[in-house]
Amino acid sequence: DLSPIDKAKFVAAKRAVDFVEDGMKLGLGTGSTAAWMVRCLAERIREEGIRVQGVPTSTRTAELARQLGIPVVSLDDAKWLDLTIDGADEFDPGLNLIKGGGAALLQEKIVATASDQMIVIADAAKEVTQLGAFPLPVEVIPFGWQTTKALIEETLVSMDVMNRDCTLRMNGEAPLVTDEANYIIDLHLKRIGNPRQLAMVLNQIPGVVENGLFIDICDIVVIGHGDGRVTVRD
Ligand code: A5P
Repeated sequence: DLSPIDKAKFVAAKRAVDFVEDGMKLGLGTGSTAAWMVRCLAERIREEGIRVQGVPTSTRTAELARQLGIPVVSLDDAKWLDLTIDGADEFDPGLNLIKGGGAALLQEKIVATASDQMIVIADAAKEVTQLGAFPLPVEVIPFGWQTTKALIEETLVSMDVMNRDCTLRMNGEAPLVTDEANYIIDLHLKRIGNPRQLAMVLNQIPGVVENGLFIDICDIVVIGHGDGRVTVRD
């Protein structure tokens, strides 16, 4: 018996996996909702014998996919993907996203961008009118990270951003290290007035590798509800 939140994640994942067709090359997202998607996909492979290739967006997802018997390939072997299914931390009415709560935003953005279509699966609590209540993750190179953080803060000042508290994400006593051996700085902005502009400006700062704003990347959001209903935004 699933809790309402797990039920919401599960029904969204299951519906999204209905979009998968035989022969597809798939981007496999990261996080608790995406983990449901990997399980649902494995079930379709087992029960219907569909053939797919999966490109995972993290070592965590790669492990789960392999355990469940999903054929895993690298992005460079797949070259181009038909569909990526991934979770998100927030989505707005324009289907722009904040991602990276699970620290996998860099591979996630590369994989989603290399896909014909991106479907986001989310519980209804992830829907917002304006992005930013969820802290925006920014992946930075460890070298000189404090300088990079200061530059991010200066950039936010120059953009007249009111709330601009930036924190290095920790894993216990040490900085959290991503799959690509980088750090994450979380930007506590409360609301993001112009996500498109912010995404561009952040990526121009030396030391910033990528930010968690996904602009014009997501095509469909499949929203799961605690009572088992599913709604779709596109
Ligand atoms: C991973 O880096 C994130 O982008 C996840 O997609 C996001 O944090 C959603 O995770 P949950 O499905 O666990 O909420």
